[in-house]
Amino acid sequence: MSDAAVRAQALERLAEHLRGCTRCPLSEGRTTVVVGAGDPDADLLFVGEAPGANEDRTGLPFVGQAGKLLDELLAGIGMSREQVFIANVLKCRPPGNRDPRPEEIDSCRGYLEEQVGLIRPRVVCTLGNFATKLLSGRPEGISKVHGQPLPIAFAGVPVLLYPVYHPAAALYTRAMLGSLQEDFARLPALVAGADPGGAAPDVPEAAGVPTAGAAPAGSAADPATEQLGLF
Ligand code: URA
Repeated sequence: MSDAAVRAQALERLAEHLRGCTRCPLSEGRTTVVVGAGDPDADLLFVGEAPGANEDRTGLPFVGQAGKLLDELLAGIGMSREQVFIANVLKCRPPGNRDPRPEEIDSCRGYLEEQVGLIRPRVVCTLGNFATKLLSGRPEGISKVHGQPLPIAFAGVPVLLYPVYHPAAALYTRAMLGSLQEDFARLPALVAGADPGGAAPDVPEAAGVPTAGAAPAGSAADPATEQLGLF
């Protein structure tokens, strides 16, 4: 089996585990866990904030108005959601769409780390403040850092972080739409490693999340199953 197929299988096992997750109280109010969706071997991973009502109902990320705008932004750069992976900081809907709480982000963080380690994207495009601060580990907000690529390691995996405004923000503040479109326009070159402003990370073949006792995902010596060090 190819390395990508092994990682895709491990991602599906992670999804199965997630669907039964009770790590935080958000599990009590959810209808569905929104694991994420897309190409398990994508070079481009989007990370949003948390599921809303439509996502909670359908189990799919970004299916409401913000999702429609995300589809349009992707179409604007000649891409579709089938070519990328879309995930969120939180996998369960906070009641009334309130902001994620620090303890909820902490308890869900490992799942996103596993996803990054298994998908191994070149570029992680964070949508809005919560995802950006989680991945950068820095306090600077999205209005300061949007459109600025930053090579980082997230849970040991080297990726190019590329923060942009959350599409929902552009629904309320139309002026942000132009900014989002401009930032999106740079994505194809960043993903291709052709944008000199964003040094493309050299993601080693066997990069993975260094969870306890686990070798890198997909390595022959250690099946990706064992990478799921969360449970
Ligand atoms: N907003 C998000 O951040 N994520 C979703 O999945 C939907 C809306």
